[in-house]
Amino acid sequence: MSGCGSPDGVDGLRLEPMSDVNHTSFLQIPSHVLDRIAPLYQGRRVCVTGGAGFIGGHLIDALVSIGAMVTVIDDLSNSSLTNLAQMIERAPDQVRFVQASILDPQAMDTAVEGSQTVFHLAALGSVPKSIEEPARTWTVNATGSMRVLQAANKAGVERLVYSASSSAYGNNPALPKIETMAPEPESPYAAAKHAAESLCRSWSACYGLDTVSLRYFNIFGPRQAADSAYAAVIPAFVTKYLQRQSPTIFGDGEQTRDFTHVTNAVAANLLAGASKDKLNGRVFNVGAGVRTSVNQLAKMIAINLDIHDIKPVHAPERVGEVRDSYSSVEAGKSKIGYEVGTSLEAGLKETVAWYASEYLRDLAQEHPES
Ligand SMILES: NC(=O)c1ccc[n+]([C@@H]2O[C@H](COP(=O)([O-])OP(=O)(O)OC[C@H]3O[C@@H](n4cnc5c(N)ncnc54)[C@H](O)[C@@H]3O)[C@@H](O)[C@H]2O)c1
Repeated sequence: MSGCGSPDGVDGLRLEPMSDVNHTSFLQIPSHVLDRIAPLYQGRRVCVTGGAGFIGGHLIDALVSIGAMVTVIDDLSNSSLTNLAQMIERAPDQVRFVQASILDPQAMDTAVEGSQTVFHLAALGSVPKSIEEPARTWTVNATGSMRVLQAANKAGVERLVYSASSSAYGNNPALPKIETMAPEPESPYAAAKHAAESLCRSWSACYGLDTVSLRYFNIFGPRQAADSAYAAVIPAFVTKYLQRQSPTIFGDGEQTRDFTHVTNAVAANLLAGASKDKLNGRVFNVGAGVRTSVNQLAKMIAINLDIHDIKPVHAPERVGEVRDSYSSVEAGKSKIGYEVGTSLEAGLKETVAWYASEYLRDLAQEHPES
């Protein structure tokens, strides 16, 4: 993240740069969950597609720390090697990197070779971008997922855990979202993500590759990209406040989301990958089960930063975005043992502190004399 605010930083902010911003200390998976699943990953060979990205990076941190042998495939189209390079340096015997697209069958074969589990996260992840580039979104998110399934099946992988999206529910007004509801994708992104869920189910039914789809609800946490027009709402808001500028809320801000700390998504992946039962293409929500409006979120971030004099500005609502979204997590709880280990409040506090720390670090580098 590059800082471009005043060298004085943020009023009232008393934060030191964190000593090791990329360490697994971010992960607060409940110890009883970790104790149960960690032995299953000791020495296990896994492949993570999209592992250089935000959620994939946290997943790899966890996998490495519990002893898995990880091959990452990522074309770096929406990420950099920063985090992964640190992981490889820290655990050179445990992490292998294939820089290639999931659309490349040979590269996929190389990446999944010998893997027992595939965590498939590679995708183009933005709703607005998918409206600008529907064909590319379909190619990567749907066709690309099929390539991953084909390679996994050919390599004799036991289970593929797919990172699906709550956007599949669309504007179906019923709340909370339950996995049995009819999907109503509203954007090319949602349509392609949902199509890939169907492909997963069909690969389980027709080829015997066990699959499971995890529908994430607005995942947030440290290291989520903050520096693009497509940044997710939490990094976008935090960055604006740190720069002492007003964050932009699209629409009236009363739209609601289920903001879910990345630790919960990591735990869901580990649990789904470790399930002793076949999952046969089932779909599970991965949320926190709490409904928060975007207006409330902006206030929570401002309070965390001790900022009281900057108010958000409003811009027209964006096409393709759903109005309300929050999850029931009952199905995941009973089938794979999913639980919400990190609350929105705790996760937001840590995440805001991380961005602030990064911001202060950048400022110190830009203005070493001050
Ligand atoms: N972040 C969220 O709130 C959220 C919500 C719902 C679903 N998801 C899903 O979770 C997954 C991970 O999301 P994220 O937030 O970490 O996104 P991200 O963009 O940080 O990570 C995706 C990674 O995939 C890589 N990638 C893209 N196209 C590729 C290709 N053709 N071949 C190989 N690698 C490719 C990118 O370089 C990036 O490193 C995605 O599938 C996304 O759709 C995320």
